[in-house]
Amino acid sequence: MRIGLLGPPGAGKGTQAVTLAEKLKLPHISTGDLLRKNVASDTVLGRQAKDYMQRGALVPDDLVTNMLFEKIAQAEAQEGFILDGYPRNPAQAEALDRVLKEKGASLDLVIYLDTSEKVIIQRLSGRLVCRKCAAIFHRQNMPPKINMCCDHCGGQLYHRSDDKEETVRERLKVYRRETASLIDYYQAKQKLYQVKADEDAGIVLDKMLMLIEKYYDSPKV
Ligand code: AP5
Repeated sequence: MRIGLLGPPGAGKGTQAVTLAEKLKLPHISTGDLLRKNVASDTVLGRQAKDYMQRGALVPDDLVTNMLFEKIAQAEAQEGFILDGYPRNPAQAEALDRVLKEKGASLDLVIYLDTSEKVIIQRLSGRLVCRKCAAIFHRQNMPPKINMCCDHCGGQLYHRSDDKEETVRERLKVYRRETASLIDYYQAKQKLYQVKADEDAGIVLDKMLMLIEKYYDSPKV
């Protein structure tokens, strides 16, 4: 199973990808998480990506694409994956199609988490992330049991620096300009499945699971 998640910042891609990956026993591959790890470890890639991320811009395609393709080539990703944060533009989508085609594979389905701007702002302004394991929380929607402390590993929670209001505005602009056209890209390939994602995370997850079950149960031409 190769499943892609598409949607604006704050749509819940990371939140849903973690649960889907657990349920479907597939690796969760998030280009945002991989880049943040590189920035935190001050790698060459991290130093190259940092400024773009802080501004809310996309990191250049070649940097992200090389990083992602290394991950996809690993043994644990051979049976499939849940992909979150990639592709972000048509060039990335085409590069992904090419690399999967070389393996005789393709993305099976792309789930578009359709989210309103009001909800996006509420979600991003309250998001908390674990420094150690990258688990995602929210001050009101999904609060940790102990203030600013991760329920899973005890790590310290922090606000992502790109969740500042002006950077969120920029990320939304970038999403509309660069990424939103992928809805049409995957629709044209009959791979796009839309889920209204303003609702509670459990409801959104159930809708996604139903969709996935239906897709894999239906006969393929
Ligand atoms: P990335 O980390 O991918 O950020 P994003 O796409 O902007 O998405 P977010 O992580 O902000 O949101 P999400 O949809 O995952 O929401 P979440 O589940 O956390 O990328 C960051 C940066 O890295 C980019 O700006 C770019 O610079 C660079 N980058 C990454 N990939 C790249 C690529 N391919 N090419 C170039 N550059 C790239 O949820 C948000 C909050 O809402 C959380 O607090 C959560 O608890 C809460 N929540 C989630 N779902 C619900 C729900 N249903 N109900 C209530 N609360 C909810």
